[in-house]
Amino acid sequence: MKSNLFIDAAFSKSTERPPVWMMRQAGRFMPEYWEIKNKYSFLEMCKTPEIAADVTMLPVDLLGIDAAILFSDILVTGEAMGGDLSFTQGVGPRFANPVRTMQDVDNLDVDVVDKLQYVADAVKVVQQRLQGSIPLIGFAGAPFTVMSYLVEGGSSKDFKTTKLFMHNQPEVAHKLLSKIAKVTAGYLNLQIKAGVNAIQIFDSWAMALSWNDYAEFSHRYIKEIIANLDRKDIPVISFCKGSSVFAPMMAEANPDVVSVDWNADLLNIKNALPSNIAVQGNLDPHILYADKKVIKEQILRLFERMRGQNGFIFNLGHGIMPDIPFDNVKYAIDVIKEFRY
Ligand code: CP3
Repeated sequence: MKSNLFIDAAFSKSTERPPVWMMRQAGRFMPEYWEIKNKYSFLEMCKTPEIAADVTMLPVDLLGIDAAILFSDILVTGEAMGGDLSFTQGVGPRFANPVRTMQDVDNLDVDVVDKLQYVADAVKVVQQRLQGSIPLIGFAGAPFTVMSYLVEGGSSKDFKTTKLFMHNQPEVAHKLLSKIAKVTAGYLNLQIKAGVNAIQIFDSWAMALSWNDYAEFSHRYIKEIIANLDRKDIPVISFCKGSSVFAPMMAEANPDVVSVDWNADLLNIKNALPSNIAVQGNLDPHILYADKKVIKEQILRLFERMRGQNGFIFNLGHGIMPDIPFDNVKYAIDVIKEFRY
């Protein structure tokens, strides 16, 4: 994709306004999502290209966002490697066979990109529907975050089992992270080949790590993945919760964009990074629960702060919560699209 609001901002070129998309935009806050979800399981939705495409297109058609993100999940890499994955309403993701020993790690496959062909097929269906109107973002989980689900066997509050695994069995953890990194690079290249226009790497739970552990168990694998991408003109966005702390190290992995959580002042982060790195963020998603007057004020305050900067993509600091009113999300997008620098 040549010139486009989102792609230009990602490559730190000037734009007439910040482009907007929102993490978890293809999801549960939309009644139309539930109409589909009530008929299929979550993994069926991910694995059936026409359905994944239908869900991907919901926020394109109903919200008018500036970039689509493929409907899928970060845990499909772990499943392809041999994880017994399920998603249960109210419980979230579960791996029934947690990875905790060298034997468990040895049992995981790395030659698995063929098993993820359904994602490439979904990308192609979405691109037929988008017809070049807006870019499509592909994505994968970062090795640390995917590892945390494989080791815990599901979601965790404190990552106790994952941290113990890293600290007591570092060589096993590194072997697992290397395997996930290899699969993830191949998987992202599959998405690029199928036609995605940008990539986001989600390291959602990196904020659980100390600076040194982030460097050793997360950053170096993200750097390896980015170095192995057939990027050409495809911008790479690096996201983690904790980016207000880790941003300088994240930049060393050579992404085009660093996605920032809401704890930080976005301009301060931008100014601390090399000038060719764009920032994405960073409205607290809870603002979208508030009155419209507040939503507008908070967005315009962020935009005034970023006025005159190239390389700014509007997003939330993390995903939209399922109970945020659709009308508020739509209003926020309308406010953003009316703004001019
Ligand atoms: O952003 C989008 O709209 C695209 C689709 C997308 C989903 N998951 C759909 C989804 C993306 C980009 C993801 C990534 C993902 N998945 C992350 C990283 C992003 C983040 O939020 O930090 C993580 C950590 C996961 C793992 C995961 N998948 C969890 C923890 C859950 C349970 C969700 C919850 O909040 O309760 C899922 C399930 C999931 N992934 C749903 C959706 C729409 C809900 C499925 C349902 O309807 O039951």
